[in-house]
Amino acid sequence: MAVVIDGKEAAASVIAAVTEATAFLERETGVKPGLAVVIVGNDPASHAYVNSKSKMAKQCGFNSIQHSLAEETTQEELEELVAGLNADPAVHGILVQLPLPKHLKAEPVILSISPEKDVDGLHVVNAGKIATGDLETGLISCTPAGAMLLVHRIHGRDLSGLNAVVIGRSNLFGKPMGLLLLAANATVTMAHSKTKDLASVCRNADILVAAVGRPQMVKADWVKPGATVIDVGINRVPAPDKGEGKTRLVGDVSYADAADIAGAITPVPGGVGPMTIAMLMANTVVAAYRTAGKTAPRF
Ligand SMILES: NC(=O)c1ccc[n+]([C@@H]2O[C@H](COP(=O)([O-])OP(=O)(O)OC[C@H]3O[C@@H](n4cnc5c(N)ncnc54)[C@H](OP(=O)(O)O)[C@@H]3O)[C@@H](O)[C@H]2O)c1
Repeated sequence: MAVVIDGKEAAASVIAAVTEATAFLERETGVKPGLAVVIVGNDPASHAYVNSKSKMAKQCGFNSIQHSLAEETTQEELEELVAGLNADPAVHGILVQLPLPKHLKAEPVILSISPEKDVDGLHVVNAGKIATGDLETGLISCTPAGAMLLVHRIHGRDLSGLNAVVIGRSNLFGKPMGLLLLAANATVTMAHSKTKDLASVCRNADILVAAVGRPQMVKADWVKPGATVIDVGINRVPAPDKGEGKTRLVGDVSYADAADIAGAITPVPGGVGPMTIAMLMANTVVAAYRTAGKTAPRF
């Protein structure tokens, strides 16, 4: 039976370190990290995410600023707000909650965020820094940063000699995750919807990362015995056993069977999920340290 990688516990220890680093920075320099979260429209799931981010920011001791904009906000109005936040010295991190309403384009908004304040790590400057192997001066996308922290807990910092397979090649997760594994010396295969014989590609993985968005797609016989399995997928599926109309969250991995084969595995929920908010807080305190001219803590 695999070791269950406890993302809640790992996230709590990141939050504790962020809280401590925040208090230290304020004591030493008077600077309080500021996180501005921008949400447009009325999507209830997005509002729930934003509220939990704002709540966590307060818990860390940040100045937490939330901008809730109406559904009919224009592209210009949104980019104007971002420009104001870029210019505000009290704001060290800016997050624009995605997805945006259909009439708005996300890409120009992300590009309008100052890279130094892009705590989601989605700006092309920050993506480019990871791609060129600079993990020190940019901000790393939160979910891959969190997933890597879980990988490091099992394998240490150096992944030399290990084969890693990432299923999924999105800009949000798959690509940065592959690059982070590569930077840690793993031998990386990026798989996607056009990959031939995915099962046998996966069976070669010492570290198997699934980020597809297909419930329980990765079966136990895709997993190399003893492998570390990182399940990024979040899928809501019907759960009639819990009552009529009820649902539950499952990952991209068939957890119960894969846990018999893997050496270590992340559950869903409670694995990678809690790491995303924790790394958002970590990026914000890092950005604040840099602005204050102090050496940023590492997470
Ligand atoms: N906080 C978190 O925990 C967090 C954060 C981000 C994402 N997620 C979850 O992670 C999952 C992936 O997110 P994402 O944003 O990366 O999704 P995405 O942009 O939809 O990308 C999905 C990737 O999966 C690949 N894919 C689709 N069907 C496949 C198949 N049958 N075989 C192999 N590959 C296949 C796609 O390949 P092509 O490129 O060829 O189309 C694509 O690269 C989702 O469940 C999402 O909810 C969780």
